[in-house]
Amino acid sequence: MIKKYVFGNPIETGAVTADIEACSGAVEFFNEIEADGGIIFNYLMNDSDIVYGLGEANRGMNKRGGFYRSFCTDEPNQTEEKQSFYGVHNFIVITGMISIGFFVDCPGEVSFDIGYTSSNMLNIRLKSKDFVLYVIEGKNAYDTVKQFREIIGRSYIAPRWAFGYQQSRWSYMNEDEIREVVKKHRENNIPLDAVYMDIDYMERYKDFTVSDEAFPDFPKFVGEMRECGIRLVPIIDAGVKIEDNYDIYEEGKEKGYFCKRSDGSDFVASVWPGKTHFPDFLNTEARKWFGSKYKSLTDCGIEGFWNDMNEPAMFFTEEGEEKAKQLISSFDFDTNRQDKFFELGGTIMGLANRSEDYRNFYHNIDGKKVRHDKVHNIYGANMTRAAGEAFEEISPDKRILMFSRASYIGSHRYGGIWTGDNQSWWSHLLMNIKMMPSLNMCGFLYSGADIGGFGCNTTRDLLMRWLGFGIFTPLMRNHSAMGTRRQECYSLGDTEDFANIISIRYSLIPYLYSEYMKACLNNDMLFKPLSFEYPTDGFASEIEDQLILGESLMLAPIYEQNAHGRYVYLPEDMLLVVFRSSAVRRYQVLKKGIHYIKAEINEVPVFIRRGKLLPLCRTAQCTDELDTSMFELIAFTDDEIEYVMYEDDGISKDYDNKNNYIPFQIKRVDGVLGAASPKTVVKLSLFGQND
Ligand code: GLC
Repeated sequence: MIKKYVFGNPIETGAVTADIEACSGAVEFFNEIEADGGIIFNYLMNDSDIVYGLGEANRGMNKRGGFYRSFCTDEPNQTEEKQSFYGVHNFIVITGMISIGFFVDCPGEVSFDIGYTSSNMLNIRLKSKDFVLYVIEGKNAYDTVKQFREIIGRSYIAPRWAFGYQQSRWSYMNEDEIREVVKKHRENNIPLDAVYMDIDYMERYKDFTVSDEAFPDFPKFVGEMRECGIRLVPIIDAGVKIEDNYDIYEEGKEKGYFCKRSDGSDFVASVWPGKTHFPDFLNTEARKWFGSKYKSLTDCGIEGFWNDMNEPAMFFTEEGEEKAKQLISSFDFDTNRQDKFFELGGTIMGLANRSEDYRNFYHNIDGKKVRHDKVHNIYGANMTRAAGEAFEEISPDKRILMFSRASYIGSHRYGGIWTGDNQSWWSHLLMNIKMMPSLNMCGFLYSGADIGGFGCNTTRDLLMRWLGFGIFTPLMRNHSAMGTRRQECYSLGDTEDFANIISIRYSLIPYLYSEYMKACLNNDMLFKPLSFEYPTDGFASEIEDQLILGESLMLAPIYEQNAHGRYVYLPEDMLLVVFRSSAVRRYQVLKKGIHYIKAEINEVPVFIRRGKLLPLCRTAQCTDELDTSMFELIAFTDDEIEYVMYEDDGISKDYDNKNNYIPFQIKRVDGVLGAASPKTVVKLSLFGQND
C-alpha cells in the first residue's frame, strides 16, 4: 500500500511515473516537526530493525549507524566517514516486525540520520517545505521495494553488447593508442567489447568535438573498430567551454540555454576545458537542444556514451577565486602563524564545489527562476534525460548505451550509472559488492564500479579479485586515472589468468542478460541481499558480503588480499561451482550452514541454489561472436525443474515478444533426469543432494 503526501509547492522531479492521489492528514508512522525553515521526520526504530536503501551511499547494505547527506557530490576520496557521493537516491526501507518504505522526493538537500545521533532514532531532515513524500507499507522488505519500483517506472535497458568486457583509461590519447589496446587484448585472448574515450579525444575538451589531430578520420576509425568487434564509448561532460566560434557555446549563449547568475549573466565555472557554462538541463528547450547534439557522434557510428561531471562538479569559480586571492594577498609568512596557514590551505582546497557557488546560479523551469541549490540533485539526472529523450528520436529502434555519474531516482529510466571515482583499495571492492543491491532497490540496474579502482596504483591480485566480482555486474569496465599504474589486464604480468576470468563472463552472458532483462521488465532486482530470498532466516539478514544474483545464483566474492578462500553462509543446501575458466571448473554439493570454501586468486566461486540451473554458452572474444544456439547446463536438483531464459537480439526494442522466453527443462524420462530445450544442450552436469 502506497500513500502520497504533498507538502507545499513541490517542483516536479520526474521520479515517480504512477498517478497516485495525494492523501491529506498526518504522515503515518512518522512524527513530523518543523525546524530551521524545513521539516524533520522522526521514526523510532526497534533494536533489530534493518534499514535498506539509499542507492549509491556509503557504508553497508544495512544503513543503520550512519549519517547520509543527499547532495550529489564529486567525491573521489570515498573514505568511511564521507556522507555524500555522486548520486542521490532518497528511498529507504525499514524492516523488522513491519516493513515501511519512505521515499523523499525532494530535489534539494535532504539528510538521513539513521541511528547516528541516537541509536534507535531515524531522523530525516529536509531544508525545504516543498516536496512529496511516499510511504509504502509492504509484507516484507522485498515486497516494499517491488511496490516502490512499480511507481517509478521501468529501468533503462542497455544493449547486450554492453554486457561485454570494457576497457577504459583517462585517456587513450589517439587512434594508435586505442588500436594498441585492442590488439593486446586480442593477442592475449582477453575478450573485449568496448574501449572508452576519455576527455582527451576532444578538441580542447569541447563537448561534441573530436580532435582532428588524434582522430583524422573518426567515422572510418569507428568502423574499423566495429570490424574488430569493438565499440568506442566517448565521454560527454556537463560544462560547455567558453570559446568564441565554438558552435555549442555560441548557440547556447544566443538562445539563453545556460544557467544564469542572479543578474541574468551566464554563470561561469572552471572545469576541465577551463571556463565553462552549464547547460540548463532543467529547461525543457535547453535539454532538447543539448540532447540533439549527441547525433553528431551517433552519425559517426557511435553507439554508447558516458555522461560525466554532472553533479555539476566545479574546480573553482570567479567568485571563489576572488576570495582566495584576497586571502593570499593578505597572508604574511612572517606574522601569520598556524591558524592563518590552515585557513589559507582550507580556502584553496575548498574552492572546488563550494556550497556558496551552488547558491549563485539559477535555472529556468517552465519560465520560473529557481536557485540551483534547491534543485541540485536533479541536475545530472536531467543531463541523462537529455540524452535518453534524444536517443528516442535519433535512434528509435536501436538501444544506445548511456550511463552517468550523477543521478537521482527517475534518471534510472534513461540510463545506468557508474559509481564514480573510487580507489584501488580492497575496501572499495567490498563497497562495490555491498552497493549493488542498494542501487537495484532504487531502480539502477545497469551499473558497476571502476574495476581495479580509479585512483591510486592497483595491484595484480586486487584486479584479479575485483574482476572475480565484476564478471557479474552489468557494467564490467576497467577504468583508471591519469598518472596511475597501467591497469589493462595485459599490463600486469601473466595474462592467462585474466583471459580465463573474463572468459567466464562471456559464457555467463546469456544468464546475466536474461536475469537483467527480466529484472528490468518486471521492475525487479538483479542483485538482492540474502534476506530478500530467505526472509525468515535470521542469520541471512546479517550477511552483507554475499548476494543473490538472479534466480539461480548466490555469490560470495573474495575481497581480502592474500586470501585462498573465505567463510560462506549457506541458507540452504547449494552446489558450489569454482570456475578457473569458462571451461575448467570443480563442483561440490554443500549442506546448509557455514563453510570455508577454497578459491585461489585465479578462481571464482559461484553457488547454484537448490532446484535451480545455470545455462552457459561457449565463451568468445566479443559479444558479436557469442554462439547462443548451444548450451551447457549445470543443475542442482533431484526433481524436474525449469529455467526460462530471456533472449532477444540485444539491440532492438521488441521486449514484450513472447518468443523471447526460452525454456530449459530438467525432465524425467523413464525414471532418469535429462535436459530438454528448444536450444541444443551439449552437456548436462547434474547434481543432486546426495552427490
Ligand atoms: C572524472 C571521472 C573519471 C574521468 C575523469 C576525466 O574524474 O569521474 O571517470 O576519467 O573525470 O575525464
